[in-house]
Amino acid sequence: MSTVILAIESSCDETSASICRDGVILSNVIASQKVHEQYGGVVPELASRAHMQNIVPVVDKAVKDAGITMQDLSAIAFTQAPGLIGALLVGAQFAKSLSLALDIPLIAVHHMQAHVLANLIPTATNGQPDPKPSFPFLCLTVSGGHTQIVLCESPLKMKVIGETMDDAAGEAFDKSAKILGLPYPGGPLIDKYAREGNPKRFSFPEPRIPELNFSFSGLKTAILYFLQENTAADPQFVEKNLSDICASIQYRIITILMNKVKKAAIQTGVTDICIAGGVSANSGLRSTLTEWGKQFKWNTYIPAFQYCTDNAAMIAMTAYYKYQAGDFSTLGIDVTARAEW
Ligand code: KG4
Ligand code: ZN
Repeated sequence: MSTVILAIESSCDETSASICRDGVILSNVIASQKVHEQYGGVVPELASRAHMQNIVPVVDKAVKDAGITMQDLSAIAFTQAPGLIGALLVGAQFAKSLSLALDIPLIAVHHMQAHVLANLIPTATNGQPDPKPSFPFLCLTVSGGHTQIVLCESPLKMKVIGETMDDAAGEAFDKSAKILGLPYPGGPLIDKYAREGNPKRFSFPEPRIPELNFSFSGLKTAILYFLQENTAADPQFVEKNLSDICASIQYRIITILMNKVKKAAIQTGVTDICIAGGVSANSGLRSTLTEWGKQFKWNTYIPAFQYCTDNAAMIAMTAYYKYQAGDFSTLGIDVTARAEW
């Protein structure tokens, strides 16, 4: 008998539902909340309310797109941590209610583990299955809230071997964009302008952080001072140089990330290397990983674009492994905002 899992993701500002049958994603519906744009960042209470409005239609569409009925479900999974508490609660309560009503197991999934396992979601190019990483592999997980290097020994055995001491890489993109006067979330816009710019035109500092850890708060301050100085001399400085500024900021963020990945590869001897999380959608990071992979003889992997930013397919994939391991939760399980795992 096949294993059919409904997974729900509601940790931040995307309401998403996905159906997975025997490790194959049948549907992945994502409703992105636009309400936060006007505030320049995610407003937690508005996120919870939008999840409440979205969750039923999003789940309905995921079930319909997959061509199944609720009675076909073997289990229901949800993002349990980390995230905004109110937002997580909406997905958790919905999943618990369905688990109770349908009398099927409940599976709690860690959002960061799921970002990593997005690399294992079966995909195909021109009808041919895409190659997937072999264990052990390293994953650079870069999102709006986290920046980690994870050593993965098996789907459910992962260890964080490096992480940020302050801002996440996505925050570094978004805060830089905000200083430049670009709307939220600025990461994709920096990526867009950077494509036209010269990454070596302006030089921003690379912090000296021990081990495999990261820091991005100094970069934000350096960008702020750099812009204050230059706009004092020429008020049109940003408009005239936007592409070069974006390319130079992006170049620095990418080199900070990739130098630590290289260090991790040398330290662990692992040569299968993945990226995951919202920032793995960045075109510069994707091409740099591929180039460095050729140079240092790594096998590199990048999730399909739709599995980089928050999505329920990655929750479903993780839940599939947990289902096989019999790793179920009780209805009493709480959501948590913290990232520890
Ligand atoms: O994983 P994600 O969707 O949500 C979190 O779990 O945080 O990541 C969102 C982050 C945001 O900071 C967004 O600006 C960044 O990913 N991001 C990008 C790009 N697309 C999304 N950053 C740089 N370039 C992109 N193309
Ligand atoms: Zn995420």
